[in-house]
Amino acid sequence: MKYISPSLLSADFGNLQRDLEMLNASDCDWLHVDVMDGMFVPNISFGQPVIKFIKKHAQKPLDVHLMIMDPGRYINDFKEAGADIITVHYEACTHLDRTLHAIKDAGLKCGVVLNPGTAVSLLEDTIQLCDVALLMSVNPGFGGQKFIENTYSKVRQLRALCDRKNPSCLIEIDGGVNTENASKLFEAGADVLVAGNAVFKSDNPAETIKALKK
Ligand code: DX5
Ligand code: ZN
Repeated sequence: MKYISPSLLSADFGNLQRDLEMLNASDCDWLHVDVMDGMFVPNISFGQPVIKFIKKHAQKPLDVHLMIMDPGRYINDFKEAGADIITVHYEACTHLDRTLHAIKDAGLKCGVVLNPGTAVSLLEDTIQLCDVALLMSVNPGFGGQKFIENTYSKVRQLRALCDRKNPSCLIEIDGGVNTENASKLFEAGADVLVAGNAVFKSDNPAETIKALKK
């Protein structure tokens, strides 16, 4: 699978509808929606009211990345706001198994996210529940950071784990993805690449999405 999920964190919030229409017409597959609470990560982004607006104009699935403490508290709120996929951080969940089941029971696709400092082996007991497993290739909180090179070896480890326990699980990578590293990530075994600045700060976002997919 070669999916691109542009991160709306880097979109122009004064012209969000225009940016969403550009993405609807582009070759992107999902829309990546970063929710930050100022506790789990140092930054605060946006919440359900903005996501409802995004949903109204989006013609692609909303890939909602919750960078919030105890995300299990908010599954139904984000479902109502329009999430199609919800990913939660391993590091933010006391009861990860319960939270993943809650997302599935809500009828949504679910996934676990690992920070750069968290080992892939910690997914051993939840990978079978995941539709997606997301590896952060920067420390979460901000767009526009530098890609961490160690990610390639983590992608290969995760591919091996998925092959063994859940071959249909998609591997998603988030942070510092650009046209230089995208093909290497797909080769290493990634299925979905998130890209914020690479898409929105380029002169031609739709062409950049095409280039990322190649
Ligand atoms: C970082 C977010 C990312 C971010 C990616 O905490 O989870 O989704 O928006 O932005 P770029 O692609 O610019 O690194
Ligand atoms: Zn993200």
